Amino acid sequence: MFDTLASQPNDPLLALIGLYNSDKRADKIDLGVGVYRDDQGRTPVLKAVKEAEKQLLATQESKSYVAPEGDRQFLDLLWHLVEGGQTGRFAAGVQTPGGSGALRLASDLLARAGARRLLLGVPTWPNHPGIFGATGLNVETYPFFDVPTQSIRFAGMIKALSGAQKGDAVLLHASCHNPTGAPLSAAQWDDLAAVIAERKLIPLIDSAYQGFGEGIEEDVYGLRKVLRAADEALVAVSCSKSFGIYRERTGAIFAVAGDARTAEIARSNLVTMARTSYSMPPDHGAAVVRTILSSEELRRVWMEELDSMRNRLNGLRRELSAALADSWQLAPQIDEQEGMFSLLPLDQADVLKLREEHGLYMPTSGRINIAGLKSADIGRVAEILKPLLR
Ligand code: LMR
Repeated sequence: MFDTLASQPNDPLLALIGLYNSDKRADKIDLGVGVYRDDQGRTPVLKAVKEAEKQLLATQESKSYVAPEGDRQFLDLLWHLVEGGQTGRFAAGVQTPGGSGALRLASDLLARAGARRLLLGVPTWPNHPGIFGATGLNVETYPFFDVPTQSIRFAGMIKALSGAQKGDAVLLHASCHNPTGAPLSAAQWDDLAAVIAERKLIPLIDSAYQGFGEGIEEDVYGLRKVLRAADEALVAVSCSKSFGIYRERTGAIFAVAGDARTAEIARSNLVTMARTSYSMPPDHGAAVVRTILSSEELRRVWMEELDSMRNRLNGLRRELSAALADSWQLAPQIDEQEGMFSLLPLDQADVLKLREEHGLYMPTSGRINIAGLKSADIGRVAEILKPLLR
């Protein structure tokens, strides 16, 4: 029977990891998949995580099941980090295998609840259309970012969303937009929230980089604003980046409503959909996050580490932007953008040429992972890019 199947291509973003690893050049540079790296190119385990793991090893007495929805204390602490008790809304969460697991459950829930459409900004994370298409949702798009001018297409976005209607869901990135890094201003978030309230849209907010943009609180300004405005919402949270626990597959999906009963009904559906898919989420990463967030000392250590990751990214943005400034007039935008990614105006041929001729790796979209830069490489990267950025 398997011979009736068509062979599937590798995921282009994940395939880049293998391509980079098999390149023998010593001066190759990896600006591909979105993981944080230090100036030596390593993705170290955070000190707060190591300490939490030590504590878990010493104190955990059972590996028995936790609960269908996962670890309630983890969910409460994570929700508090995201929402901060500031919206007056009721949320019911389910722990998931990473942010992708959260998005998949959100998609299943929207499909089951009969959402008319899910609107995705263009461009967005390439796995978004895949995840939402897989559950049969009717996926459509709205304009978000213009690559040649490196600017948010805010008027186009508002126009498209103003034409949406009750029953439509809209995907938003809480901060550190993937792939563009383009941040909405506070005033733009306010306008967006007003349209969501007026058109009765259901926001599905993808929050995967809290703390990597301007700060832990600053990065959820828009998210909180939108939650206050919406009747119902979904929030998909990833702990992969903020806690550096990528392979532990740790995240959560929160259903948000105006009353506890409605949020609980949504949770019961999320739980049953998880049960028929992977039954229950893995525990370890959530136990680590719970241990960090429930300890004043570990939380302090973690926040310092998050600050230093953010400061490094911001420093690299400044340096790259300065190094490109004499030949590319939009170079200052790199510094204005936030988080791990920027989307350069390169076409596929440019990207393949950079890969072949210079060992500079990025996806064919032209997205660069700023964290993949080392200070010492910035001059060379800028010189390689300059002839292509005009
Ligand atoms: C990325 O966009 O590079 C990351 O979110 C990793 C992934 O799973 O695609």
